[in-house]
Amino acid sequence: MNDTKIPPLHLEHNGSGIPVLLIHGFPFTSRMWRPQLSGLAASGHILAPDLPGFGRTPAAPPPHSVERLAAACLDAVTALGIHEPVVLGGLSMGGYIALAAARHFPERLRGLMLLSTRAGADSAEAKANRDKSIATAQAEGPAPAGEGMYPKLLAPENYAAQPETASELKAILQGATTEGVVMGLTAMRDRPDATDELPEINLPTLIIHGQQDQVIPFSEAEAMAAAIPHSQLHLLPQAGHVPNLEQPERFNQAVTEFLGRLS
Ligand code: MLT
Repeated sequence: MNDTKIPPLHLEHNGSGIPVLLIHGFPFTSRMWRPQLSGLAASGHILAPDLPGFGRTPAAPPPHSVERLAAACLDAVTALGIHEPVVLGGLSMGGYIALAAARHFPERLRGLMLLSTRAGADSAEAKANRDKSIATAQAEGPAPAGEGMYPKLLAPENYAAQPETASELKAILQGATTEGVVMGLTAMRDRPDATDELPEINLPTLIIHGQQDQVIPFSEAEAMAAAIPHSQLHLLPQAGHVPNLEQPERFNQAVTEFLGRLS
């Protein structure tokens, strides 16, 4: 891992009690956690950073890696004076970063939440697509990344059934910059395969996945649940890639129960 540190991250936080660090997906911002910043405040101290180049955090120079992003997220918590281990949750790209934290900084973690994510690395085809998307962002800015993902993010019926969720999602996607998009795509492209490490994860682990996730199939969540010893799986119906926005009550209930078992 490179020693150069990423400059401090902006972090939204609310609540009190057990620290719960939530890392956003790509190309989102901490705004995606609004239903958790409010709805989980009685269950824990909810901490939601903006990754570099997203939301209110300025871009960071390369090298870009999930390991460096994991360190930056944990540093943001330390900067608040919180030194105890955190429950770390990450959605999709945030989950890749959470798995990197479990690999490199297990002593900083008290629990793990793998949300709409997978353990495997990118295939050769997926890496080539990342390269194309990086070139598009460099030529056209951040909008195509969000526009390309938007139709896949919600469960198909939720675009019509939940118009407020759909418009909130569009607003969240406005928070990405070119530098953030390039950083996220680079870190995701180069992330290591975490599959073989799953049986070694010695942390209580909550896995939540939407049954209609069109970005990462729920079979990936089932595979992680089978491999991680102290894990439990919640497959949420009527939810796609962002179950925390599509089914916030069920999502928050699952997290609250998980946190209750940790304390
Ligand atoms: C995400 O939702 O964070 C990303 O789409 C995940 C990915 O592209 O692998």
